Amino acid sequence: MKRIGMLTSGGDCQALNAAMRGVVKGLSANLDELEVYGFADGYKGLIYGNYRMLTSKDFSGILTKGGTILGSSRQPFKMMRVPDENGLDKVEAMKQNYYKLRLDCLVILGGNGTQKTANLLREEGLNIIHLPKTIDNDIWGTDMTFGFQSAVNIATDAIDCIHTTAASHNRVFIVEVMGHKVGWLTLHAGIAGGADIILIPEIPYDIDKVVEAIEKRTKAGKGFTILAVAEGAISKEDAKLSKKELKEKMKNYSYPSVSYELADEILKRTGTEIRITVPGHTQRGGTPCPYDRVLSSRLGASAAKLILDNDYGYMVGIVNNKVKKVPLGEVAGKLKMVSPDDQIIQEAKLMGLSFGD
Ligand code: F6P
Repeated sequence: MKRIGMLTSGGDCQALNAAMRGVVKGLSANLDELEVYGFADGYKGLIYGNYRMLTSKDFSGILTKGGTILGSSRQPFKMMRVPDENGLDKVEAMKQNYYKLRLDCLVILGGNGTQKTANLLREEGLNIIHLPKTIDNDIWGTDMTFGFQSAVNIATDAIDCIHTTAASHNRVFIVEVMGHKVGWLTLHAGIAGGADIILIPEIPYDIDKVVEAIEKRTKAGKGFTILAVAEGAISKEDAKLSKKELKEKMKNYSYPSVSYELADEILKRTGTEIRITVPGHTQRGGTPCPYDRVLSSRLGASAAKLILDNDYGYMVGIVNNKVKKVPLGEVAGKLKMVSPDDQIIQEAKLMGLSFGD
């Protein structure tokens, strides 16, 4: 007999449901009795005791379903130790709900911030398993997060669609790709979609180099240029600013996006027609791609194995295509970023792609 709790926290992504299904299938196939409690809207449900008992029926037909059947919310890690507006100690409240339900383990699906709170709960003595989800693929200790490949597909589709219209109108296009502070999604979608220029936060761009790359294409008779720009991309000048100065500067933009400033600058210098496309949250929506269904099922099944073995305190990730349990304390708080020295960057540059550096 096992009693487990589950919650999904942070921005949603594809294959969250598939991962939960993997855990429950793995457990129910090997146990006579299983009780699963699903907390609503991430840590909020755990804090305020908002949960429901889930049966195998709840996990039927959800392999292909995007979003999360439990709901999600963002509960910033830095606020976890701060009492709520009614003076409630959130960490204590979460522990009490865990103990009240006599849980054997809490399975937490989330990204970086979620992982930090998961580790905090582990330090507080709860049995925790973390499953790494995010379209940003920025979680340390795993080669891949589920959600990432599905988002790559969507962002790539967006760039594919832009290709035909950009070519017809001889325009410069910026496709702004999600990814928060890292460039994995932009890098992969940019290469897959055949973008000409890829700008990511890890490689601050020089506007002169960006314009040079556009003009080089024009001179070569290519009427259009596509830039895949990460939402977190930053110019060399801005990279020198302090956090406070940067925040101040961003106040001037009605939509806090690098793309608009970049577009203005390109227009000023080249006079070419330029358009911006922002696929935005479509990148987190829809059904998970087959890769993510397989990855999340594998991670879910391996999480079930850990629970069956009473082996807690891990993130279940994938390294060199092998599922790996990684101690939460070793990874929580670390961000996995693209390195300018990564092979993939060198290969892209070899093909003539510009990173604006
Ligand atoms: O972390 C996933 C992500 O989609 C990021 O790529 C993006 O910056 C952020 O979430 C958007 O968050 P929200 O849904 O809160 O606007």
